[in-house]
Amino acid sequence: LAKGPLAGIKALVTSGPTFEPIDPVRFIGNRSSGKQGHAIATALARLGADVTLITGPVRLADPSGVRTIHVETAREMLGAALGNLPADVAVCAAAVADWTVSNASKEKRKKYPGAPPPAIELAANPDILATLSEAGSARPRLVIGFAAETEKVLEHAKAKLARKGCDWIVANDVSPATGTFGGDFNSVHLISASGTEDWPRIAKADVAERLAWRIADFLKPGGAE
Ligand code: C5P
Repeated sequence: LAKGPLAGIKALVTSGPTFEPIDPVRFIGNRSSGKQGHAIATALARLGADVTLITGPVRLADPSGVRTIHVETAREMLGAALGNLPADVAVCAAAVADWTVSNASKEKRKKYPGAPPPAIELAANPDILATLSEAGSARPRLVIGFAAETEKVLEHAKAKLARKGCDWIVANDVSPATGTFGGDFNSVHLISASGTEDWPRIAKADVAERLAWRIADFLKPGGAE
């Protein structure tokens, strides 16, 4: 049986990008590496949680001790998330594509000499974080989202907390001056209805561990934020 402060706790983590097909061989994606989400899944498992990681396509190994489900599209990610409720805590770290290709074709799009390029039509994707936050009696006790901002970090993150209906936002300052993009260190703020914690500049791996301990503190019997 698992030991640790999160023993008996079920956690859902989303990570990585989503890929939205244009046709059977092409897609729209993004540059998310999945490092932060995978690190969070690992940190939660180390504290004893029963972790399901739902990940888009990444170049990372499945973390050991974590049940990993591989998906491609936002719709598949949402289906996997809803299909793995109930959970005590959900951490939405995935960089979900905002749009899917509504006119994706079953056959590979052909290029014909002289013909204009095909038009790609987009439609909004479901918001996984918002959907989990509104899941009624199936709602995890603690729903956590991420916000990467380049300006007015706290203001934008607080608005996101309200808009998505989640409990905490990990706001990530990615303005060029911080060196966060491509760097090993991160400066985050943990935002909840009751206030803002400014974390020191720490290694990205340590953000995951610190968040896992913070989750354990919140979920422990009698724990509060
Ligand atoms: O709205 P925005 O993409 O900036 O919000 C980021 C947060 O929302 C992240 O936690 C991300 O995982 C989550 N999200 C989601 N589904 C979407 C879009 C964002 O879960 N379709």
